Amino acid sequence: MQIYMPTNVYSETHCVKNHSKDLAALGTSALVVTGKHSSRVNGSLEDVQNALESEDISCTIFDKIEENPSIETVMEARELGIQQKVDFVIGIGGGSPMDAAKAIAMMIANPVERESVLYEKRKLPALPVAEVPTTAGTGSEVTPYAILTIHARRTKQSISHKIYPSLALIDSRYLKTASLDTLIDTAVDALAHLIESYLNTNANSYNRMYSEKGLSLFSEIKEALVQCRRAGKEPVLTLSDHVFEHLMQIAATAGMAITHTGTSLPHGLSYPITYEMKVSHGKAVGIFLPGFLTYYKNKEDVQFVLKQIGFQTVEDFTAYLDELLGTVEIPEELWKTDVKSILENQAKLKNYPFKMEETTLYAFRR
Ligand SMILES: [Fe+2]
Repeated sequence: MQIYMPTNVYSETHCVKNHSKDLAALGTSALVVTGKHSSRVNGSLEDVQNALESEDISCTIFDKIEENPSIETVMEARELGIQQKVDFVIGIGGGSPMDAAKAIAMMIANPVERESVLYEKRKLPALPVAEVPTTAGTGSEVTPYAILTIHARRTKQSISHKIYPSLALIDSRYLKTASLDTLIDTAVDALAHLIESYLNTNANSYNRMYSEKGLSLFSEIKEALVQCRRAGKEPVLTLSDHVFEHLMQIAATAGMAITHTGTSLPHGLSYPITYEMKVSHGKAVGIFLPGFLTYYKNKEDVQFVLKQIGFQTVEDFTAYLDELLGTVEIPEELWKTDVKSILENQAKLKNYPFKMEETTLYAFRR
């Protein structure tokens, strides 16, 4: 058994300001990677700029990261980083900017390499990366993964390199401006990470500690989330500070879990659905959780997972998810291609500990 969790994590209110010295320890010139709007609205970008200024560190902002970032965007940011001679990268936002920050940090450190190197199995250096999450979903602030959109293949895929952030600064205040859909979809993404890591070929007692803790934290806030959906109002109007803090902790804990195991079939099936139907990542993953639990062969483990979240049966869990997420009608042709591509790809099947039949996988769509 092995456990390896090298990211220095601070999780507290005002942690960007409180730990500006930890940021300064990473370099002297930062490339801040973020999206167009949300980091300005929730105050995280301003906090990072102030922290860098207080430590006399120069700051270049690249704010063109789109949802499901593309290789093209990574390459554009690399050019800016090289031009400005940056020596570390800070990702601010949800999974998209945080994942992109890792890929950009690697491409800047290897300025003569072409974009194809992202998907080559070679050992390459990367600049240090700090992450400031503003959603509670991917856990990218602690994982070594960076998932990019590959337009040429009409899907998303993690790059071949593992780039652990050196520093994660987690402040749940940034989550408070998240929309209802973003908050719920990302919470379900984190829940999927916990489940797919627990029920995984690579699972061991160490990483299962993360999943167990995350699932029990989720059980404490699951009712608040569904009530928030029923209210149909902005989350900040219905959720307490305690729930926002729990959500951030669940996402980071789930990130620590998948760092050791990877994800499984719900994630594998979700990528073409997100690409072709523009369904958000959390929702695209969440719709496959009921099928995953229904057909998973070790029923004892499934029962344990359900108990940790506070459900008696898969049916209760499914009804809960349906209310939280709604349903998605996947067209027949897309579904057939999706199932076929998973079954033909050993890399995507290897985290599922049992043999998977086509008819079973096909039944994951409800
Ligand atoms: Fe995910």
